[in-house]
Amino acid sequence: MTVELERTGDCAVLRLNRPEALNALSFDIIRGIGAAFDEVAAMQGVRALLITGAGEKSFCAGADIKELRNRPLMDQLRGAELGQSVFAKLDTLPVPSVALVNGYAFGGGAELAMACTFRLASANAIFGLPEIKLGLIPGYGGTQRLPRLVGEGRALEIIMTGRNVKADEAERIGLVNAVVEGDLMEAGLDFAGRFTRYSLPALGFARRAVQRATDLPLAEGLRVEADLSTLAYRTEDAEEGMAAFEEKRKPEFKDG
Ligand code: CAA
Repeated sequence: MTVELERTGDCAVLRLNRPEALNALSFDIIRGIGAAFDEVAAMQGVRALLITGAGEKSFCAGADIKELRNRPLMDQLRGAELGQSVFAKLDTLPVPSVALVNGYAFGGGAELAMACTFRLASANAIFGLPEIKLGLIPGYGGTQRLPRLVGEGRALEIIMTGRNVKADEAERIGLVNAVVEGDLMEAGLDFAGRFTRYSLPALGFARRAVQRATDLPLAEGLRVEADLSTLAYRTEDAEEGMAAFEEKRKPEFKDG
């Protein structure tokens, strides 16, 4: 199996398992990732998705270059649309996602990590969008998501030079949330534990509101926030959270 999905407590863990090719993304693997996302969406009791790569060396070295070569132009377009639409499923997944970047995250691998809600990196992680070195440009969302995370000037420099971005720089420029010195999976489960106790609807409203922040004018973004915060206010979880505050006890959210 090149895409493995398992369950650890209340987290689903997706592992790209093709270490002999540094977990490069064939079209079959991308389809497998899409199917795994659909499975996670249907899982009961899952509150976060962690995504990582098999082996010590690589999260994912990007699209499978050998497979990309000599494909007709229409297939290339379909490939970009496939990768983009599969990674975009993460935006609407009922649970937040965390990329655990254990080594190389190049091309489509960096793009998969950027499509996640959060990114943690091991100290040896190296990010890059090296497509320019192949005479290509990023095709699975990199030109759109990188500037949203690090700003246009830095994104242009990283994409147009194809240079590597090591873990410490990735953290400094906001490409990753944190660099982890110890066990990455353990750190990922701990990190997820910081939000999995909260109401899933409230987490979903927060994600939706923040996702719109970069593509809407301020006045429209504030309208979206007002609408979503009103929806949150009407949930039973909000009632429970505010009651628990007054009663000086821990809230018991039921995702309703
Ligand atoms: N596609 C296919 N195979 C790949 C691959 C990829 N993206 N990356 C690595 N591999 C394969 C290698 O061909 C090699 O296989 P063989 O042993 O059969 O030759 C194996 O994985 C190990 O790789 P290396 O020997 O190259 O390992 P290394 O440690 O010397 O180098 C590396 C590691 C720097 C990551 C190097 O493998 C590399 O530069 N890989 C390509 C990275 C890249 O350009 N990614 C972008 C792809 S295009 C893209 O992703 C488009 C998009 O936007 C969707």
